Amino acid sequence: MEIRVIENKNLKAKPDKNALGFGKYYTDYMFMLDWYSDKGFTDPRIIPYGPIEFDPASLVLHYAQETFEGLKAYKTADGRILLFRPDMNAKRFQKSNERLCMPVLPEEDFIQAIVELVKKEQDWIPDLPGTSLYIRPFMFAYQPKLGVHAAEHYKFLVILSPVGSYYKEGLQPVKIYVEDQLVRAVKGGTGFAKCGGNYASSILAQMKAEEMGYSQVLWLDGVEHKYVEEVGTMNVMFVIDGKIVTAPLEGSVLPGVTRDSMIQLLKDKGYTVEERKLSIQELIASAKEGKLSEAFGTGTAAVISPIGTLAYKDEVFFNNPQIGEISQMLYDTLTGIQTGRLEDKFGWTYEVK
Ligand code: COI
Repeated sequence: MEIRVIENKNLKAKPDKNALGFGKYYTDYMFMLDWYSDKGFTDPRIIPYGPIEFDPASLVLHYAQETFEGLKAYKTADGRILLFRPDMNAKRFQKSNERLCMPVLPEEDFIQAIVELVKKEQDWIPDLPGTSLYIRPFMFAYQPKLGVHAAEHYKFLVILSPVGSYYKEGLQPVKIYVEDQLVRAVKGGTGFAKCGGNYASSILAQMKAEEMGYSQVLWLDGVEHKYVEEVGTMNVMFVIDGKIVTAPLEGSVLPGVTRDSMIQLLKDKGYTVEERKLSIQELIASAKEGKLSEAFGTGTAAVISPIGTLAYKDEVFFNNPQIGEISQMLYDTLTGIQTGRLEDKFGWTYEVK
């Protein structure tokens, strides 16, 4: 792609690196690309970050035809810039777009857009431990029209946000409520796709959990309300009898890049990982028999979120206020590779030059 650049004359002051939070600050530039049904992808450009004008009838505002991704850029101690497995995000974005009947962006264009924008904004990459530059690529239906159908005009954007930890608890264990009424996804739906609609429908359960004093929910499958699927905005893993158990990718669970990386790291370290159905009854029984030693969520934004408390129908069946040994090992190894402190023997990092 030939990317044109429009310079920004009003550069912002950088935020305090010690108080970044998540998604509070945005950099000076964004990437934009249009797609029209008669022209395909056109006019890639890096332009000053700012509001976009929408026709009130834009399709995304009515029927939520929107997909997104999340990845991070890290600054290494020797000043290099690393992305983590951007090819995985590019491929997942393609699958999400196929499901939502949206244009499929070639992998090399997805990566080039990110690389060029991150290069331009490299001064925004924070370097304190636990911080990074969060990259949010997304696409939406822009055409004004009220009939329910695929649009003839889409926009693809990339925006950047310097971030610290996603959850206010950071690496402290969180309290999770098992949601037994509302569901996140069903097989045949959009659970495997990263689309805004999945997150919109998750907010009610999240609010209910917060009202009861929990930070997030553990989702059960949408048909039987029986098998554990995901936690909050992350995949979830349990250590039962020393083996790591996580839900299989059968259509309703998001194929997380962090999930995949954790599974490979665990296997490499000699752990047994079981991608299988785990019923809430088996999970409760494991906890009561003392076999459940750790539980944690995994995701790009949060990296790892240890679970300290698990409650189902008002019964607390798991309590572990300490971050577990495996959770800590995974956090240290993954962030070590991502920030260039540890050897990247899997070839996961992608240097922005
Ligand atoms: C991520 O982990 O990057 C995500 O996309 C989750 C998000 C909803 C914050």
